[in-house]
Amino acid sequence: MATKMNEKYSEDQIQRLPFMDMNLDLEKRVEDLLGRLTLEEKIKLSSGRLMWHTKPIKRLGVKPFTMYDGPHGVRADTMGKTKSTYFPSAICRAATWNPKLSYDFGKAVAEEVRDVGAHMLLAPGINIHRTPMNGRTFEYQTEDPYLNKVLAVATVKGIQSQRVAACVKHFVCNNQETNRFTVSSEVSERALQEIYLPAFKATVLEADAWSFMTCYNKVNGIYGSESMNLLRERLMGEWGFRGFTVSDWNATAYTNTAGCVKAGLSLEMPTAKKYNKSNMTKAFQEGGFTEDELNDNIRRLIRVMFLVGLYDDEKAVPKGSRNTPEHQAIALKIAEEGIVLLKNENASLPLNINKIKKIAVLGPNANYRIGGGNVLSDGGSSFNFPPYEISPLDGLREKCLNRVELTIIPSEADATIIFAGLNHDHGMDAEGEDRKSLELPSEQIELIQKTTRECSNTIIVLINGSPIAMNNWIDSVSSVVEAWYGGMEAGKAIAQVIFGDINPSGKLTMTFPKKLSDSPAHVSKRTFPGDDNVYYNEGIFVGYRHFDRKDIAPLFPFGFGLSYTTFSYKNLIIDKNKIRDDDEIKLSVEVTNSGNVEGKEIVQLYIQDVESSLERPIKELKRFEKVFLHPNETKTVLFELKKEDLSFYNETINSWIVEDGIFKILVGSSSRDIRLQGEIEYLT
Ligand code: BGC
Repeated sequence: MATKMNEKYSEDQIQRLPFMDMNLDLEKRVEDLLGRLTLEEKIKLSSGRLMWHTKPIKRLGVKPFTMYDGPHGVRADTMGKTKSTYFPSAICRAATWNPKLSYDFGKAVAEEVRDVGAHMLLAPGINIHRTPMNGRTFEYQTEDPYLNKVLAVATVKGIQSQRVAACVKHFVCNNQETNRFTVSSEVSERALQEIYLPAFKATVLEADAWSFMTCYNKVNGIYGSESMNLLRERLMGEWGFRGFTVSDWNATAYTNTAGCVKAGLSLEMPTAKKYNKSNMTKAFQEGGFTEDELNDNIRRLIRVMFLVGLYDDEKAVPKGSRNTPEHQAIALKIAEEGIVLLKNENASLPLNINKIKKIAVLGPNANYRIGGGNVLSDGGSSFNFPPYEISPLDGLREKCLNRVELTIIPSEADATIIFAGLNHDHGMDAEGEDRKSLELPSEQIELIQKTTRECSNTIIVLINGSPIAMNNWIDSVSSVVEAWYGGMEAGKAIAQVIFGDINPSGKLTMTFPKKLSDSPAHVSKRTFPGDDNVYYNEGIFVGYRHFDRKDIAPLFPFGFGLSYTTFSYKNLIIDKNKIRDDDEIKLSVEVTNSGNVEGKEIVQLYIQDVESSLERPIKELKRFEKVFLHPNETKTVLFELKKEDLSFYNETINSWIVEDGIFKILVGSSSRDIRLQGEIEYLT
């Protein structure tokens, strides 16, 4: 390579450098720019400045690359000057079980990223829900690796459709906030392969994710940011990741400079510490890493700069937009489809707006605005600042205007709605700390108990982002609606569900336990929250896999959600009973809306390996489909399974295997409501 080191260029000359040529092959542009950088400049590019940017290199016209949080909308400044669409939390988006909405969200939020002049969104967060106590449960999607994967892939594709980089986080086993900077997640290879890694891997293989954020914690004793095994070997080697890795903000605190470079950490954020000039120069001079190793890290970062169009003509790059009615409509749609109806005794919901005269509205979340948290005080990094937010009370007021009277006295009302739940204060659904209790705050429990004595039709609407225990009040209320943190249009979505304009169609993506000790991570202090180490002793038995195995009845199972209509299932047809090798199995099932109103059903397909050399879960989700049905309408839902869907990970031979034998096919409406069963036999 001709040495062009340190040459000074005029603005005109820069424009004529090969890497500036949009028509040149991507890899040629990357190599051209990389070849022009001095060692010092590469070191400079390895760390951030001003919280959200990489450093410019004026000599070559290298521009800063800008990245902002977060998972529920873009936050271009932490003081709220820049407003942006506040989408529902990830757990709500996941509860839609609608990958198209994940894609639409990704595309819309990326348009907002563009509009604020940035290049990467620090999202999606796809850590598995290992425990309901994780302070960031609301930011993540599910306890199930398959659902996690499908939704993560759709989100990344949506974001990157706008030539904005997704930053998949936090890689990996960042499943709690307690001791997040120091704890080591002690996890088996099988659990990594079957539970924690699949969604991350799929975002690379199926969506070509352009960036990964490393976790704060250690995994089996090694920090994510300096894990050769996680970064160089798996992510880059086995999965063929072509993007770059970025540290979580200050996740390098206890790492080693050379260790991070060698492992493949391209960018240290938010500022240079381990990657500052003196540490990097010293480590390099001492032979801690080679220039080739650094080159690979920088090559990846530069590649993504080209992928997002940083050096392309503006006209060639998708245009951004922000706070548009289209984006607000997507936020509303996700909120509507994510609402999960958990209980509805005597069909007390929906309320009939023509019959009901007076509704009492109570509870701390009735008029509480969730968005707009400040990263410097509370809430955490996932908050953005919406131009408006429709609270539940706003939504009800608008809906009820001139038709139904709203009061705060339950004894005078035909129905009472209590907006209960949590918020983003520390110790609840918040970054940096785990939840303190699985129960609602005691004053809310008292409020519910008092109200149910005064009004026989009490409806609880939960605004929260993680499972809540309900045993001491659920029997006395008529309905429970899980509305999550539904974004800036939440109030409207809730009112529409309450009055039946929208038929709820969300289902839980995480088991709601009756009590914490039922939950797999809560065996002892060693298994949660741990101390220096947290032991993932439950292995692959996370979420419903554990409840099934131990035969524990959950409060509400994975995949559960009611509707204002009913669905019936019939005719499970499997095209062949015996399969081998690459045979595909085609399945069909007929689903009918057997009630009186239109609705959407989420048809879930689980498999069960009847006999295997290693213990396997009683059920594993392998496919699902959300179908819309008019009353009396029947649709045939088609699924295809492959050999890989039957496989499990065997640690002794370090490989995925499928064993000969019978597999049950279980099709149902939730993980605990299997309506139809079939069988196939796998033969090698
Ligand atoms: C969080 C990340 C976030 C980053 C930047 C960290 O504290 O863990 O999820 O993207 O801050 O705000």
